[in-house]
Amino acid sequence: MFNRYALAQAALLSIACGSPAPTAFVYNNDVPNPAITPSPVQNNPSPIVERGLISDAESAASDVQSDVNSVLSGLGSDLPSWVASGVPNFFQGFPTGDAVASSLGLQSSELAALPTNVLNIDPYANWTNSGWSVRFHGNVYKQPNTSVSDLNKLANGFLVNTSIADLPESQQDQARNLTAEIFVVQQPHVAVNTIHLEPAEFQGASGQPGGGGSSNTTGGTQNVTLPYNTTAEGDFDTFVDIASHGLTAGNKTSAIQRLNTYVKGATIGNSTAYLVPPKGLTIVSDIDDILRITKIYEPEEGLINSFAKPFTPWQNMPDIYRNWSTSLPDTHFHYLTTTPEQITRNYMQFIYTNYPGGSFDTRPLNFSDVSATLSIRKFLLEKVFETFPERKFVLVADTSNSDVMRDYPKMATEFPGQVQCIFLRNTSATDSGDKFPYDTSGFKDLDKSKYMFFLNADDLTNLDIANGECLNKTIPQNVTFSYQGLPLGLSKDSGAAISGGHGFTALVVSMMTAAFMFS
Ligand SMILES: *[C@@H]1O[C@H](CO)[C@@H](O)[C@H](O)[C@H]1NC(C)=O
Ligand SMILES: *[C@@H]1O[C@H](CO)[C@@H](O)[C@H](O)[C@H]1NC(C)=O
Ligand SMILES: *[C@@H]1O[C@H](CO)[C@@H](O)[C@H](O)[C@H]1NC(C)=O
Ligand SMILES: *[C@@H]1O[C@H](CO)[C@@H](O)[C@H](O)[C@H]1NC(C)=O
Ligand SMILES: *[C@@H]1O[C@H](CO)[C@@H](O)[C@H](O)[C@H]1NC(C)=O
Ligand SMILES: *[C@@H]1O[C@H](CO)[C@@H](O)[C@H](O)[C@H]1NC(C)=O
Ligand SMILES: *[C@@H]1O[C@H](CO)[C@@H](O)[C@H](O)[C@H]1NC(C)=O
Ligand SMILES: *[C@@H]1O[C@H](CO)[C@@H](O)[C@H](O)[C@H]1NC(C)=O
Ligand SMILES: *[C@@H]1O[C@H](CO)[C@@H](O)[C@H](O)[C@H]1NC(C)=O
Ligand SMILES: *[C@@H]1O[C@H](CO)[C@@H](O)[C@H](O)[C@H]1NC(C)=O
Ligand SMILES: *[C@@H]1O[C@H](CO)[C@@H](O)[C@H](O)[C@H]1NC(C)=O
Ligand SMILES: *[C@@H]1O[C@H](CO)[C@@H](O)[C@H](O)[C@H]1NC(C)=O
Repeated sequence: MFNRYALAQAALLSIACGSPAPTAFVYNNDVPNPAITPSPVQNNPSPIVERGLISDAESAASDVQSDVNSVLSGLGSDLPSWVASGVPNFFQGFPTGDAVASSLGLQSSELAALPTNVLNIDPYANWTNSGWSVRFHGNVYKQPNTSVSDLNKLANGFLVNTSIADLPESQQDQARNLTAEIFVVQQPHVAVNTIHLEPAEFQGASGQPGGGGSSNTTGGTQNVTLPYNTTAEGDFDTFVDIASHGLTAGNKTSAIQRLNTYVKGATIGNSTAYLVPPKGLTIVSDIDDILRITKIYEPEEGLINSFAKPFTPWQNMPDIYRNWSTSLPDTHFHYLTTTPEQITRNYMQFIYTNYPGGSFDTRPLNFSDVSATLSIRKFLLEKVFETFPERKFVLVADTSNSDVMRDYPKMATEFPGQVQCIFLRNTSATDSGDKFPYDTSGFKDLDKSKYMFFLNADDLTNLDIANGECLNKTIPQNVTFSYQGLPLGLSKDSGAAISGGHGFTALVVSMMTAAFMFS
């Protein structure tokens, strides 16, 4: 049986419209993208190690993963490569730059006439010897004025087993908006000047949307120019020391100060910079399937939830975060998701209407192939840990991301004493549609009171996280430190199954394949 899903993914659209005649753009999850280009991050202390889960060969667990990978690759090219890697992530291989221009049939003169937009992703700043240092990051791009009929055709390429015409009008609108955000033309090698900074308004103590900072920010008004031009992909990511101009020193306050940052000459591109003192608590939170219902592990539904349906919070997580934000007033929220940069704005909008405000990280454009997708989370986690070496971190996500399962516990060993708690929603335990096994081997050497696998948002209530209470004793943990989430009780004995090799691998393969062929 040929995989309907892969077919739909690979068979993107030929647009026949308007003049000049546009060339077809082929959207393909398996576009080979052999090398990771260097990080756009300047002054970057973390080496980028090109090492995904596949090549992390020490542990038996990843041997299994690579077995799975080679067996799956042997099945032929009809499986998306991210299935083979155990990454349930359909946001791969979006078109960029010239590919967009040519798929839309844009002439350079038409492009030149378009206004420049800036995706200015909400930054964090640390306190250094030279004052506050702000990590500006984002992308410079032009958004073509694509017609509704072209957007419909392009959107159909992202939808599985449905077409945009079958969706309710509001969902069509959202699908077109998202598609338009993906089909933008990034601007390489351009300067980012000028960014204007000014104090953000006091948000009150509600914790939303300002988040964690109930302090009044005074001062900081200034213009800054970034020291580097954008990368080949139009990205920028650099720390800039700003003048204090009346801001409170980082070692004289525990409160977070907030500055509005506004890129001049861009029609959109405002964000808030969070000036975070050296000491305190930072919540690092993933978004999909923990803060919003995505069902990323059920591709057909995951795509609709991402492309068409309004983003919807998962259970009462907004109450949990609101409580953390108000009862721990100097808490810094940092939303770190590996969703691609192109759709960051949707994620930011959703977060800021439902959750405390905070800084943001998404997947930069040069991390777009599967192995890079698997390494980006670690890269971004290391960056925020290195930027705040004295802060404690609470890490929140769900079990359906293999990179989370590997990277979160690693942070606890790499940065001793900095991980306060790890909270993981067990999507396999509550959602029978989640057929992906998850690997708990990374937790083996961690203090059992420092992490919790949980089922419902309420399991997080009444925990004194500031004092290190991470485990709700009423929630059975069942952690086997091996692959879990498999049927037939295999997970209970998976040590044997792992060394046994083939039977286990075949089962994983059939589970994964089933999830994709029959979902
Ligand atoms: C606060 O930080 C500044 C800049 O890093 C430093 O010069 C100053 O000595 C610090 N003050 C205290 C009281 O630590
Ligand atoms: C975009 O194109 C539509 C027609 O396709 C036109 O009506 C509209 O004015 C254009 N908008 C801009 C900003 O050029
Ligand atoms: C496609 O979606 C329709 C409507 O939800 C459903 O009835 C049908 O079974 C789906 N087809 C396949 C092959 O999954
Ligand atoms: C789509 O974008 C338009 C223009 O930015 C906006 O007015 C509209 O509310 C958006 N619709 C949805 C469903 O997001
Ligand atoms: C940076 O971009 C500006 C135009 O935006 C250009 O004039 C300048 O030469 C560029 N500098 C480098 C080093 O590419
Ligand atoms: C912030 O400033 C406003 C008005 O300037 C004032 O009413 C409020 O009490 C201040 N809040 C704090 C926490 O300082
Ligand atoms: C920032 O630049 C603008 C001109 O682009 C100027 O009007 C404004 O005074 C500058 N602000 C500061 C604080 O330098
Ligand atoms: C961005 O901020 C500037 C300065 O505060 C303001 O004038 C402008 O209206 C804002 N733009 C948007 C789109 O919010
Ligand atoms: C501030 O962040 C930078 C970049 O991550 C880091 O190199 C530096 O050590 C940090 N400064 C302090 C004082 O923590
Ligand atoms: C633990 O196992 C029990 C019994 O199989 C199950 O009902 C529960 O959902 C599991 N809990 C977690 C957090 O995995
Ligand atoms: C533990 O979880 C239960 C069930 O979700 C919840 O009622 C309770 O408030 C949680 N917290 C503690 C400390 O027991
Ligand atoms: C709210 O958060 C505080 C601080 O973590 C905690 O002590 C309290 O129990 C929480 N309340 C609820 C209802 O979760």
